[in-house]
Amino acid sequence: MSTILKEPISKIIIEKPYLSDFFESYGITVDKNDERDLDTFFNELSEDLLEDVGTTLSDLKKAFNEYLSAMEEVLENDFQVEEITIIGGFNKSNEPENFELTIKKGDVVCIVGPTGSGKSRLLADIEWMAQGDTPTKRKVLINGEKPKKEWRFSTEHKLVAQLSQNMNFVMDLTVEEFVTLHAESRFIQDVDEKVNRIIEEANKLAGEQFTKDTPVTALSGGQSRSLMIADTAFLSKSPIILIDEIENAGIDRKKALELLVKEEKIVLMATHDPILALMGDKRLIIKNGGVAKIIESSEEEKAILPELEALDNKLLELRNRLRNGEVLK
Ligand SMILES: Nc1ncnc2c1ncn2[C@@H]1O[C@H](COP(=O)(O)OP(=O)(O)OP(=O)(O)O)[C@@H](O)[C@H]1O
Ligand SMILES: [Mg+2]
Repeated sequence: MSTILKEPISKIIIEKPYLSDFFESYGITVDKNDERDLDTFFNELSEDLLEDVGTTLSDLKKAFNEYLSAMEEVLENDFQVEEITIIGGFNKSNEPENFELTIKKGDVVCIVGPTGSGKSRLLADIEWMAQGDTPTKRKVLINGEKPKKEWRFSTEHKLVAQLSQNMNFVMDLTVEEFVTLHAESRFIQDVDEKVNRIIEEANKLAGEQFTKDTPVTALSGGQSRSLMIADTAFLSKSPIILIDEIENAGIDRKKALELLVKEEKIVLMATHDPILALMGDKRLIIKNGGVAKIIESSEEEKAILPELEALDNKLLELRNRLRNGEVLK
């Protein structure tokens, strides 16, 4: 809002024609040849006119501000990310990675490798849309092209939603206030309904239940992770979802993944969990800071999944029994 205020109406109307609709909806006529800047235009609206159209100057400015950001958000989302391309850089020993990988909408790519090998680094390169300016010197392209500056540095027009390995809440808000704030900033319709749904789904992922009145600072690691997963699943418009280790927080990882993986998204997930690793279409093997191998999940491998799941269920069952204070025999 602040920069647009200094621009002449005549220029604004050409660049953002939808803004004249805003004034029209109030019955305020805008002359497309008006050379005054927007701020002057606002301040020179007469008291009588404002009273006639049933508003005050400050309400009108506030509504304008909201309309402007909502429109910009909508227009931004018109842009479709069809694919991203990662162009290899160098590993920790400065050896070239020599790979180029294109990931399309609907694909799930897993990132595996030992602790400290560089999985989170790879996710960070994508989040940051690296252009040879990170320690790995990787480059990331969107739809085959170098991403625009706005996508890299603007927080409101983010193409990437990142569920990071560690997160901390510092705000003094309840769960409900936190999610509502988030939902409102997305200009969605049924805020209350969405907020309730998010809290409900988050609780399905977490063990011990929390309520909408729980302060976010009182959530456990797994609970806050669950909340962020549900929040991302229902509120994020970002076409690219990055997940750093969904399994560590002790949440229901399969349910979490079901929530997050959607047809229209590109999903990259770092994981130490063999079941999750096999669920992707492809997996990247990271070693010494570099992508050492790219493996397509084969049918043969997928056939092993049920066996792994049976083992996993057995472990889960034991875990739950221990958690509930049973003594194993
Ligand atoms: N190609 C590289 N060049 C230089 N430094 C790198 C490179 N790749 C990774 N690193 C650095 O190595 C460190 C460990 O990497 P990272 O945190 O990504 O490991 P990780 O695989 O996510 O480990 P964990 O499984 O424990 O989460 C980080 O400081 C990261 O910046
Ligand atoms: Mg990591």
